[in-house]
Amino acid sequence: MLTFLWKFTVFHPLFISCCLLNYVISEDSPDIPAITKYFNTKGRYEEVNLYLREDILAVNRSILQPPSAQCREIHLTAIIRHGTRYPTTKNIKDMLHFYNIVRHNASGEESWLREIQTHWTMWYTDDMDGRLVRKGQDDLKHLAVRLSKLFPSLVSEEKLRGGLIKFTTSSKHRCVNSTLSFKAGLTELWNITDKEFDHAANDALMRFFDKCTRFVLEVDNNPSAVVEVEKFQQGPEMRRVQEKIADRLRVPYSNITYVMTEAAFYLCAYEFAIKAVNSPWCQLFDEEDAKVVEYASDLREFWKRGYGHDINSRSSCILFHDAFSRLDKAASENQSGKQVTEAVTVQIGHADTLLPLLTLLGFFKDSDVLTSTNYATQANRSFRTSHMMPYAANLLLVLYDCGGAELRLQPLLNEKPVTFPGLTDSMPLYQDVKEHYKELLEGCDFETECELFRNPA
Ligand SMILES: *[C@@H]1O[C@H](CO)[C@@H](O)[C@H](O)[C@H]1NC(C)=O
Ligand SMILES: *[C@@H]1O[C@H](CO)[C@@H](O)[C@H](O)[C@H]1NC(C)=O
Ligand SMILES: *[C@@H]1O[C@H](CO)[C@@H](O)[C@H](O)[C@H]1NC(C)=O
Ligand SMILES: *[C@@H]1O[C@H](CO)[C@@H](O)[C@H](O)[C@H]1NC(C)=O
Ligand SMILES: *[C@@H]1O[C@H](CO)[C@@H](O)[C@H](O)[C@H]1NC(C)=O
Ligand SMILES: *[C@@H]1O[C@H](CO)[C@@H](O)[C@H](O)[C@H]1NC(C)=O
Ligand SMILES: *[C@@H]1O[C@H](CO)[C@@H](O)[C@H](O)[C@H]1NC(C)=O
Repeated sequence: MLTFLWKFTVFHPLFISCCLLNYVISEDSPDIPAITKYFNTKGRYEEVNLYLREDILAVNRSILQPPSAQCREIHLTAIIRHGTRYPTTKNIKDMLHFYNIVRHNASGEESWLREIQTHWTMWYTDDMDGRLVRKGQDDLKHLAVRLSKLFPSLVSEEKLRGGLIKFTTSSKHRCVNSTLSFKAGLTELWNITDKEFDHAANDALMRFFDKCTRFVLEVDNNPSAVVEVEKFQQGPEMRRVQEKIADRLRVPYSNITYVMTEAAFYLCAYEFAIKAVNSPWCQLFDEEDAKVVEYASDLREFWKRGYGHDINSRSSCILFHDAFSRLDKAASENQSGKQVTEAVTVQIGHADTLLPLLTLLGFFKDSDVLTSTNYATQANRSFRTSHMMPYAANLLLVLYDCGGAELRLQPLLNEKPVTFPGLTDSMPLYQDVKEHYKELLEGCDFETECELFRNPA
């Protein structure tokens, strides 16, 4: 019925504007909020690969398209963000504050408002603090099964039992738990009950951002590094969103600050990510509002983890070298007639682990910097965390032997092939990739980059 309404409304813009606030109309399901594609790092993995909504274990091997039938995968490195998690304690505090405003101070007859005021309860508690949720365990189990279908010769029972699949994780609970879930996905798939598989916690590698003094002092703990973020939060686009929320709740404009707006957005996003429900909180935003809130969050990631400051990406040099030294090792083992000792490397970390690395590699770089004043012209930006960084986001580096000592490297982001920026082939020669990143391979030393008093080169 709602699906029908949506199709109908496409031809009747007036009808849309009268009803969007009262009915949740999504392109294909009333259970899915219309604004899910703007959830930034709080987004569901299924929303970046829509076919997974139908079949969570679906894969399509023909997307890999190696240049010749001879090509065989010889190594896979998978750098994966943890799965769906609870909000942090700070988010929960803000959500509670906003909930109290809506409960005590809002008025109106809309059904969504009555639902919040009479049926919804604040079920988030401080002890949840960012831990993995049940859905987050499934995110990683399902990803493990899909990777075994996508790369059956590498992510195989034989290789797992043979100790050729290595697991490394950030020590954060949600990452360790994600690692256990990934392994459980494989052991359950192959019904392995007689053996357990180790993992190693390594924060130097998976939480390099905490260990990089220069990043910590110049960016992470430095408000002047994120002035653009602050300005956008106080700017005209965001003010308009806040006023619209205040109008929908019939509360004074002064009650809806940026922090409250973000809390409202989180309530919609978390209820969907964790419980798969289209909660009444989502009715506080129309699509234009959601795009503004999405931009505010992208701005923060841009300045704290992305292209905003060089040290953001340079802090990931350690992870960059780790990946390439392993690729080199696999390449030379294969070329010298030995078995590749580490066929698969699974590394589980954070959005904060992946974003700097993707930036270092040059992915999602727009011609203009994201600022507080170019929201409109950045409408089609490629730096969009909603697409790049949902829960369980992953960067896969697949090394192929294509016969005759020809090695190729294919990058995939969230299981979709991508092209290294600056190269044209989606599965370039490994040698060409190394040539392309020559400067990083010869420099980009974590210790040097992260020293506080460093002379500019
Ligand atoms: C699989 O991917 C190929 C290549 O992108 C595409 O042509 C094909 O339609 C896909 N198949 C399915 C079932 O999605
Ligand atoms: C909001 O609700 C609280 C608690 O009921 C009340 O003390 C306060 O006066 C209300 N504020 C406004 C502006 O209505
Ligand atoms: C992983 O997280 C889930 C959900 O929070 C929890 O039930 C489970 O005990 C955790 N597993 C471990 C090993 O910590
Ligand atoms: C899994 O393995 C156990 C022990 O080998 C066996 O008892 C059980 O039937 C197996 N389950 C399935 C689903 O194959
Ligand atoms: C809401 O706004 C009113 C009027 O400006 C103010 O008195 C009240 O303290 C505000 N309440 C909150 C929770 O911000
Ligand atoms: C290198 O890998 C390819 C693909 O798996 C394999 O056919 C070849 O035998 C390997 N080379 C050696 C020397 O093991
Ligand atoms: C963004 O892309 C849409 C669709 O292609 C286009 O209509 C719009 O003009 C573009 N906006 C900007 C600011 O480039």
